Amino acid sequence: MLCAMSRPLPNLTRIARLREMFLEERRGKRALDDYWRDPKDVEAYDAVLAERIGWKWNAALAECQDRGFARADEQVVLDYGCGSGIAVRRFAEHFGAGQVLLYDRSMHAMNFAAKRIALDLPKTKARVLPSVIGVSPDVLLVSHVLGELDEEGNDELLALISRSKRVIIVEPGNRRVSRRLSKLRDELLDSFHVQAPCPHSGACPSLIEHNDWCHFFATPPPEVFTDGYWARVARELNIDLRALPYAFVALVSKTAGIEVPEFDEDERLLGRADIHKQFAQMRSCTEEGITMVEITKRHHAKLWRSLKKRPEQIRFALRDRDAPPVEETPEEE
Ligand SMILES: C[S@@+](CC[C@H](N)C(=O)[O-])C[C@H]1O[C@@H](n2cnc3c(N)ncnc32)[C@H](O)[C@@H]1O
Repeated sequence: MLCAMSRPLPNLTRIARLREMFLEERRGKRALDDYWRDPKDVEAYDAVLAERIGWKWNAALAECQDRGFARADEQVVLDYGCGSGIAVRRFAEHFGAGQVLLYDRSMHAMNFAAKRIALDLPKTKARVLPSVIGVSPDVLLVSHVLGELDEEGNDELLALISRSKRVIIVEPGNRRVSRRLSKLRDELLDSFHVQAPCPHSGACPSLIEHNDWCHFFATPPPEVFTDGYWARVARELNIDLRALPYAFVALVSKTAGIEVPEFDEDERLLGRADIHKQFAQMRSCTEEGITMVEITKRHHAKLWRSLKKRPEQIRFALRDRDAPPVEETPEEE
């Protein structure tokens, strides 16, 4: 790996162009045509925007792991709409992969992703696919693609999902795409178990109120705060590298014969806690719907301290909230 001092900045003009297009698309302004003009676009994307997406995958995959998602060492893993292939690289780091299949409408993207896998995962065979018709992967990965699909792409993806044994979809944590993901999750409930992040297998309560959406925040790695490369990228592109909202779902086909472990929590916190001086409020997803949880600094000192230190990593609060009050202890610096 290159050290912080010697890591050259990628072509920021290329990244700024891509970012502006993604923001327009996320604002619902237009569907995007193929935007990878040449391999250098994919290379620039990979150095910054894909890295950020990789941090979201790390958070989603850690939660999948905690929910008992099984390894995939001997399995066929397909990255649909692979771009530079960040999703499958992160997945293989966490869960392994026997063979990697890459599919994207852009040859530039697929070729770049295949080269990166040869470098990063030299023992894993990777193949680019001309089409996904008839392909039935053990694990299907979809990352930041839903919002870009036209009707034909959507139908193709739905058919592919129905042929997959396990599926992980990670998308940006904005309202529009997250609600689209929740609707897709609900459509798949008859044929798939939801392994993460949902605490129940009922319809998604985030879809009841117009203003709700299921999303979380990932934590960037520590070097983002210490490495000159990331400081320059953030400054020159005006990106807040700390804000990493994402939505995700991990599904297991009901006909695949894969056991999904019981989940012993009955909630999952959503979004970010609103932390005030003496109390904090959070929204929690439960089978009964979205519940407002309030905890106080005085009565829930342990949870309070965790919330202050690493709010993104706290997934549950009801259990701690309902625990008997504990004596206040001095707050750690
Ligand atoms: C925002 S990029 C995300 C790339 C990568 N999955 C990631 O997370 O970094 C969306 C990708 O989806 C691809 N894409 C969009 N529509 C597609 C379609 N109908 N079929 C296949 N790929 C598509 C684009 O070419 C692009 O590589």
